[in-house]
Amino acid sequence: MDKQVKIFDTTLRDGEQSPGCSMNLREKIEVAKHLERLKVDIIEAGFAVSSPGDFKSVQTIAQTVKDCSVASLARCVKGDIDAAYDAVKDAADPRIHVFLATSPLHMQYKLKMTPDEVLEKTREMVKYAVSKCSNVEFSAEDATRSDLEFLARVCDAAIKSGAKVLNIPDTVGYTTPDEMRERIEYLIKNVPDSDKVEFSVHCHNDLGMAVANSLAGVLGGALQIECTVNGLGERAGNTSLEEVVMALHTRPALYNAQTRIDTKQIYRTSKLVYNIIGQSAPINKPIVGANAFAHESGIHQHGVLAKKETYEILTPESVGVQTNQMILGKHSGKHAFTTRLEELGYKLTDEEIATAFSKFKDLCDAKKSVTDGDIEALVNNNTVSTEGMYKFVKFDVQTMGKSGVSGTICLKKDNEFIEQTALGDGSIDSLYAAIDKIVLPPDHTLDKFIINAVSEGKDTLGEVVLKLRSDARSFNGRGLSTDIIEASIEAYLSAVNQLMQ
Ligand code: KIV
Ligand code: ZN
Repeated sequence: MDKQVKIFDTTLRDGEQSPGCSMNLREKIEVAKHLERLKVDIIEAGFAVSSPGDFKSVQTIAQTVKDCSVASLARCVKGDIDAAYDAVKDAADPRIHVFLATSPLHMQYKLKMTPDEVLEKTREMVKYAVSKCSNVEFSAEDATRSDLEFLARVCDAAIKSGAKVLNIPDTVGYTTPDEMRERIEYLIKNVPDSDKVEFSVHCHNDLGMAVANSLAGVLGGALQIECTVNGLGERAGNTSLEEVVMALHTRPALYNAQTRIDTKQIYRTSKLVYNIIGQSAPINKPIVGANAFAHESGIHQHGVLAKKETYEILTPESVGVQTNQMILGKHSGKHAFTTRLEELGYKLTDEEIATAFSKFKDLCDAKKSVTDGDIEALVNNNTVSTEGMYKFVKFDVQTMGKSGVSGTICLKKDNEFIEQTALGDGSIDSLYAAIDKIVLPPDHTLDKFIINAVSEGKDTLGEVVLKLRSDARSFNGRGLSTDIIEASIEAYLSAVNQLMQ
């Protein structure tokens, strides 16, 4: 019988802590809800002790999510474990994830501890975590560069102290599939009571082998894979959830394993995460890239037309990518719109449907036909905070020859309309300067500004994603409109409103 492999998602911890991937509370909750819908087994929601913001987001996710276990990371330090427990204790199935490095390099230079001290600390802190929460995972950081025999002793100590999951991280992305498989096999064979716990793998992608190493870990006996949506994470990233899950799903006989992931939610979740961090999938990214299911060469097209399986090992539909683009227009009613949303994998509340439908109707006035891509953008755009003190009313721009562009913006705050004009290098520059004159935000820089066309054609929706930085804080903004200047204004205002709050 197939073994059940658990999917431990660390997008909100290992993914979010990497540069350019930070998310605010609202965005993290949205991601957590998608992960729950995707049916991951465990959500690592953050590192509770690292900041009050992280604590709050772990706690809110623990209180919101019901169908997955929620974990917080903690060093082998009592204060970390206390914070982790306090943050996850309201979860349906709380987990504390403690870690301590076990490689000679880390023990000597980072921890300045002897191997015996590391063993003792593992015992002491796992016991402490277990005294608070029965579901404790222990990670031996840099396990793949640790002495195997010593690693086995650390795992033994963690099991005897009550850990239920033993995670073997390839912290620096150094190992290979053969090594990972052998390491897990060795531990399962040599650690007493290894059959009473679950072994887990956590791989980084520095040499492009994170997915292969995780799968090799499963062949070696691991029952949990730690991964992130889109492979986000430190440096070259972590194991990509969509790739590792679809590999297991596509080759069940090889791995003798299954997950409980609802694969039809993969594309949608990937898109949401890319949207939030202001990126899009590289076109050749497996599973979710624009070309992942495209067949350009004549030979391939001929084969696929004759029989799909000639060049397609998995279907776009299996990951929630719709290929039969249905076009909706202004004569489409709420019923057709709701049905299409369901076909695209969206299960929205009545209130969310009402908001999306009203945006859809507005869009139909600006655009003759509305594609699936447009609908997904409308729904996903709902998730970005646009509410705040200042609301966009209208804009005007005038080109002034060599002097640049004069932009006039009208914003509404409470019931007051405020108008300002400013000069800039171009339309967007001048309008952003005019907004700054009204809002007077603290010093900030625009770290990222991206314009994407959501679908094809001149009347496509334009999506603007940007990131504002002020001191150490950063704010993501997103705007969507058939007018890219308007989308740029919406994106900037949503970030500025967050900055002012
Ligand atoms: O890469 C790593 O070692 C980690 C641990 C904290 C699990 O992220
Ligand atoms: Zn990691």
